[in-house]
Amino acid sequence: MDRNLALEFVRVTEAAAIAAAVWVGKKDPKAADQAAVDEMRDRFNQIAFAGRIVIGEGDKDEAPKLFIGETVGTGGGPEMDLAVDPLECTDSVAHGRSNAQSMIVSGPRGSLLHAPDTYMFKIATGKAAAGVIDINASVEGNIKKVAQALGKKVTEVTVIMLDRPRHEQLAKEIQATGARIKLITDGDVAAAIATCMPGSGVDLLLGIGGSTEAVLAAAPVKLYGGQLYTRFQPRHEADEAEVRSCLGEIGIHDLSHVFSANDLAKGNTLTFTATGILSGPMLDGVIVEADRIITHSVVMRGTSGTVRFITTHHRSTS
Ligand code: FBP
Repeated sequence: MDRNLALEFVRVTEAAAIAAAVWVGKKDPKAADQAAVDEMRDRFNQIAFAGRIVIGEGDKDEAPKLFIGETVGTGGGPEMDLAVDPLECTDSVAHGRSNAQSMIVSGPRGSLLHAPDTYMFKIATGKAAAGVIDINASVEGNIKKVAQALGKKVTEVTVIMLDRPRHEQLAKEIQATGARIKLITDGDVAAAIATCMPGSGVDLLLGIGGSTEAVLAAAPVKLYGGQLYTRFQPRHEADEAEVRSCLGEIGIHDLSHVFSANDLAKGNTLTFTATGILSGPMLDGVIVEADRIITHSVVMRGTSGTVRFITTHHRSTS
C-alpha cells in the first residue's frame, strides 16, 4: 500500500520545495515557512490516506497548520503516522545559503517517536561503519573505528557538523585526531543521511541538533543500512520536563537513554521522501528556468529497500 503513497508524497515535497524556493534570499523566514506549510498541507489533503502528524510545526496553539495531532489526507486508505518538515533550514532559505529541503517520513501508527522539540546529541554513519560507532565512546575512539571500517586513514575521514559555538570543544577533539571537518550552517538531517550516501564526501556526523530532526533522519539512515545514535540534550528546564514526559510515556526514566535509529523510527515499512530547495550534501535544489522548474528528490521505501532519485521538470505556470 505504501508503494503508491511514497510516490504520491514526492508530489507533496516537490510542491512545498517550489513554494519555499520563491523566498530564497528574501530575508523573510516566516513567509518561506508558511508557503511550504500551506502547500504541503493542501497536497496531503488530495491524497487518499489517513495521516496523523506526530512531528510537525509544533503544538496546535503555536501552529495553525500541520500541528502535532492534526490529521491530513482524505481520510480513506491506509492509516499512517507522519514526521514532516515542509521547510528544513528556514534560515538557509531566508538568507540564500545552502542545504534546505522539504521532507516527509511516514510509518504505521506508533512507529515514530513523539520527540519534543529540543536538542539531541547525535552520531551517525553509513552502512560500512554502522556497527562500530558508540555514542558513549570518545570522539577519537569513534573516528579511529570509522576509519578502520571504511579502510581509510584517520586523516581521510570527514566529520560533518553544525557550525555552532556549542561545538567548539567537539571540533577541537576532532581536529586533534587529524580528521577533516565539514561545517554546515544548518541542516543536520541531510548531513546524517549524506554519511550513508556513497560519494557524498562525508563519513560521520557528530554534534548537537534538533530532536525532531533526529526522528526525521532516523528512517532514511536506517533504510540506507546506516546507524544513528542519539540522546536527549534538553536546552533548559522546561525542555527537560517535556523530555521526561516523552520518556515516561515509553517507560524510560533515564534522561541519558540512548536511542538507535530503529528506536526513533520503528519497523520496515517506513518511507522517506525529500525534495531539495537549496543544494546540500544530499540533494540539489530547485532550479528555475524560463519555461520550467526543475526539482531533485529522493524517495526511499523500507519494504523494498529501493532508493529512487527523481529529477522532475515542472512546466512553469506563470
Ligand atoms: P529549522 O528547519 O528549524 O530551521 O532547523 C535547521 C537546523 O539546522 C536543523 O537541521 C538542526 O537540527 C537545528 O536547526 C539545529 O538547531 P540550532 O539552529 O538551534 O542550533
